Amino acid sequence: MTKREKIRIEIQTLKKLPTLSHSAMKILNLTEDESTHLDELLKIIENDPPMLSKVLGVANILYLGYGYKITTVKDALFKIGFNTLRNITFGISIFSLFKSSGQKEITYRKLFKHSIATGVISKFISENIFDYNDYTAFTCGMLHDIGLFALHYLNYEAYVKIENLVLQGKTIAEAENEVIDLDHSIIGKWLSEWWGLPEEIGEVILYHHENPATLDNKYRKNIAWVHLSNFIAERIGFGIFDGFQESIFYEYGIYSIFTLPEINELINYIKNNLPFDEINII
Ligand SMILES: [Fe+2]
Ligand SMILES: [Fe+2]
Repeated sequence: MTKREKIRIEIQTLKKLPTLSHSAMKILNLTEDESTHLDELLKIIENDPPMLSKVLGVANILYLGYGYKITTVKDALFKIGFNTLRNITFGISIFSLFKSSGQKEITYRKLFKHSIATGVISKFISENIFDYNDYTAFTCGMLHDIGLFALHYLNYEAYVKIENLVLQGKTIAEAENEVIDLDHSIIGKWLSEWWGLPEEIGEVILYHHENPATLDNKYRKNIAWVHLSNFIAERIGFGIFDGFQESIFYEYGIYSIFTLPEINELINYIKNNLPFDEINII
């Protein structure tokens, strides 16, 4: 059996991977009809203190401060809306499935922070640069590297080997293909199918490392925001590995959309104006 088949089977049979928690399942099944599901969502968050503090932390970053701190779930609901609140809660409950302790916790925390930063930046860019107000930008950004969480959880040894190859100058995909014969965007896509996530999220996960300027996909816009946000997250200090190891490979694609002064201005603005200190909530 090849390494690729082995990992696919591990994921599909959930041999080592936990199934979605009861809360995550419930949240996924909540429709967008807030009048029927509002109380249910509030109850899930309020009855789970670690979840509550993380949700409030992310809500505060998304609300961008404005000199006012969100301190209750009801307040969060009012400020950021039902769908965003539901999606933050869903993302955090998925990340908790992969929670790691000991040595693994350091890299888990990096992945967690990178994911939240990418989601927040993606929402900011879609709304402020492209004038597109859609909560899926945040969700896709937050979940784009879910395949890496799974790999980190399932096979930490392979994850460390991949990290070392990236630090030697390979792209993540090259390193992953060398070590496990597939990459985290495919693992993430499998997971999204397995969990029944919306098609758009699965497509963004699958293509988030592709150059958006040359991509032909019906979710191209969202893929482009996440691609750009992933790049910016690393540039402002929320990369998965040390230094600008991965984003260097995306410069060409990014510069085909923005000029260098534009992208630097955007990075500086995001760095100075979004309250990323809140990411230390985990
Ligand atoms: Fe990625
Ligand atoms: Fe990423």
